[in-house]
Amino acid sequence: LPPLRVGLLGLGTVGGGVVNVLTRNAEDIARRSGRRIDVVHASARNLGAPRICPLNGILLTTNPMDVVENPNVDVIIEVMGGMTPASMLIRRALELGKPVITANKALIAHEGNELFALAQAKGTVVAFEAAVAGGIPIIKAIREGLAGNRIEWLAGIINGTGNFILTAMRDEGRSFNDVLAEAQKLGYAEADPTFDVEGIDAAHKLSILAAIAFGMPLKFDSVYTEGISALKTEDVRYARELGYQIKHLGFARRHENGVEMRVHPTLIPERRLLANVDGVKNAVLVWGDAVGPTLYYGAGAGADPTASAVVADLVDVARTLTADPNHRVPHLAVVPDQVSDLPILSM
Ligand code: NDP
Ligand code: HSE
Repeated sequence: LPPLRVGLLGLGTVGGGVVNVLTRNAEDIARRSGRRIDVVHASARNLGAPRICPLNGILLTTNPMDVVENPNVDVIIEVMGGMTPASMLIRRALELGKPVITANKALIAHEGNELFALAQAKGTVVAFEAAVAGGIPIIKAIREGLAGNRIEWLAGIINGTGNFILTAMRDEGRSFNDVLAEAQKLGYAEADPTFDVEGIDAAHKLSILAAIAFGMPLKFDSVYTEGISALKTEDVRYARELGYQIKHLGFARRHENGVEMRVHPTLIPERRLLANVDGVKNAVLVWGDAVGPTLYYGAGAGADPTASAVVADLVDVARTLTADPNHRVPHLAVVPDQVSDLPILSM
């Protein structure tokens, strides 16, 4: 088979990580995909800026629409972030029937319902494993691994920057702003870090997890959202003296008459597993009626871990495009299986 030709929108932390992982693990990835995967065209704002990845053999442009429209590009990876122009670019790619892979949780949380419907109408897919919990394959775990379960609830630490800040405040006594600046430097934080520290990023992710776990449309506006910006070093340290850790949690539960979704700081007894998830790590606890509790742990942000999730979607897309259309893997259908009308419970 000829190589799968990738168009990459964004060459920052995640985009650079994607090129690095595809380069480093090219042989294994080709074996698993049934074909080589090559990034052929990429866009960034400033082509002269230093990059974390090699760019040889990649056509570069400042106009992302050139990448989308390029007839020699088979699949689009959107890792620019933000709503505009990402939304317009993804819509155009889907109109052209090109599969789209994105790490953009803000866009999925706000426009996912429309994007999935458009993808389905055009016979293609929007894949977004990297949008939740960085490198942890939590979307695949819920959609595939737990497909036989009725999921009752899930809870998780789903913002790496916030957990990195709380851990450094507790262990090193550093100030909130000092640690946030470090998280930005390491590429963990959102372009607007208010999203991380005010709980908005976690709310985006929670709405995505709940949609998949409970088979309902995305309802970001219904998430109760509180961040960590009011917490002080003393709060985190006193909590530990009392035998607790303060963690910023996302929580979603199915009730008889609806779904509850909330993100906020929580006191967790030290003996609990989630209390021991530190630094940029994330963890998600999912309770299914058949399997009981399951726990997923790993890096919640950063170049290579996030690229791991993006490339997993890419391998899925490569396999699907390779398969006979009658035998394509069904798990790429990301529209909620059963769009139920579960009301959202108010707090
Ligand atoms: P960066 O800011 O590091 O990279 C963004 C890239 O997109 C840059 O290369 C930038 O160009 C380019 N870009 C941005 N806006 C435009 C535009 N208008 N036109 C052309 N190019 C543009 O972001 P990240 O890689 O950190 O994040 C990308 C996405 O991945 C976001 O949606 C984020 O939420 C998500 N994500 C990030 C994770 C992380 O750990 N960082 C983890 C999981 C998801 P230039 O470099 O020239 O400025
Ligand atoms: N800013 C996000 C975080 C990136 O810190 O979790 C990963 O989604």
